[in-house]
Amino acid sequence: MTGPTDIVHIDAVALTEAAAATFAAAGCAPEEAWTVADGLVEANLFGHDSHGIGLLPRYVDNLRQGIARAGQSARIVADHGALVGMDGGRGFGQVVGEQAMAVAIERARATGVCVAGLANAHHLARIGRWAEQCAGEGFVSVHFVNVLSRPLVAPWGGTDARLATDPFCVGVPHAPHPLVLDYATSMVALGKVDVALAAGKRMAEGLLLDAAGRPTTDPAVMFAEPAGALLPFGQHKGFALSVMCEILGGALSGGHVQHEHPHPNPMLNNMLSIVFAPDRLVTRDALARQVGELAAWLRGSPLAPGATAIHLPGEPERIAARERTRDGIPLPRRTFAALAGCARALGVAAFDEAGGGVPGGARGAP
Ligand SMILES: NC(=O)c1ccc[n+]([C@@H]2O[C@H](COP(=O)([O-])OP(=O)(O)OC[C@H]3O[C@@H](n4cnc5c(N)ncnc54)[C@H](O)[C@@H]3O)[C@@H](O)[C@H]2O)c1
Repeated sequence: MTGPTDIVHIDAVALTEAAAATFAAAGCAPEEAWTVADGLVEANLFGHDSHGIGLLPRYVDNLRQGIARAGQSARIVADHGALVGMDGGRGFGQVVGEQAMAVAIERARATGVCVAGLANAHHLARIGRWAEQCAGEGFVSVHFVNVLSRPLVAPWGGTDARLATDPFCVGVPHAPHPLVLDYATSMVALGKVDVALAAGKRMAEGLLLDAAGRPTTDPAVMFAEPAGALLPFGQHKGFALSVMCEILGGALSGGHVQHEHPHPNPMLNNMLSIVFAPDRLVTRDALARQVGELAAWLRGSPLAPGATAIHLPGEPERIAARERTRDGIPLPRRTFAALAGCARALGVAAFDEAGGGVPGGARGAP
């Protein structure tokens, strides 16, 4: 079991600086290194450790193997005004994702709407980042994403892994922060199983199958050979949504649906985004008023036993960000040691196991 002393808390800015130094040493230009580091640490800040800094060694390894490529840009390959197709060239998702959303926003500003495909991006990480980029410019967005990785998720009614965790995301601009629905179509993201394994915890019931197709709570089954499977969320409903993520995100983006890939775990994403200007349909004031009315109506429900609040999508992330900006980002010591080891192998002393090399420092959990 993992106790509180197995966790270190690291200042988010210090963590970003250390990660950026590591990516730069691995071959990224300084701006790219910072963008990738910032995207990962932001996922931790928003409470999604599964898509955070713990992925750094994997990204560095992918760069070394040519699975990810430094210095790429989202290249327009199909251009029809409000419909635009782009290819990420296996560039870092944090970079080509931001570029692709900038193109979609520019088009939607001109035409009111843009349907934008981005194929062949290295891991786009937390998809909510892309909805937030659109919402920050006043646009609603819907994102269908498929994942080319080793199969992880069983089809509804099946017993072995055939799909990946295909995330779906919707963002709506609102003050003080946008509403963002952003989740995997599996019961949990694989990274959360990894985080549980690193922390020595069991998963909840109803999330996993072992390699023989039997229900289990053991996170290790996902990393065994042969591996188990995650279940789709919402039974047939989540499965059906993931099929649409495959078709819209995978096929219609110009990418590819889940299939036998020459690399066993390519860690690529394809994404189809629909970005539109809400004020071409209703006034901004009317939208804000209706979101406010809905929130008040929902929050009027008496709390269930054990519940502390009724949240709108996107709120838990903002609460986590406030806490983690104040207290530092909690990382299992094992994860921190892996970051330090990866950086050291590249001649970077930005991390070390005690956190002494990180400005702001690592400290044990209070
Ligand atoms: N790039 C990829 O290949 C890939 C694959 C899978 C997942 N992901 C990312 O992993 C992250 C985590 O995915 P997940 O499936 O574990 O997410 P999750 O199950 O933690 O759900 C998060 C979503 O649910 C909302 N939410 C959480 N609690 C809520 C509550 N009490 N009331 C209302 N809304 C609530 C959040 O605001 C957010 O929109 C996401 O950012 C996703 O994009 C990426």
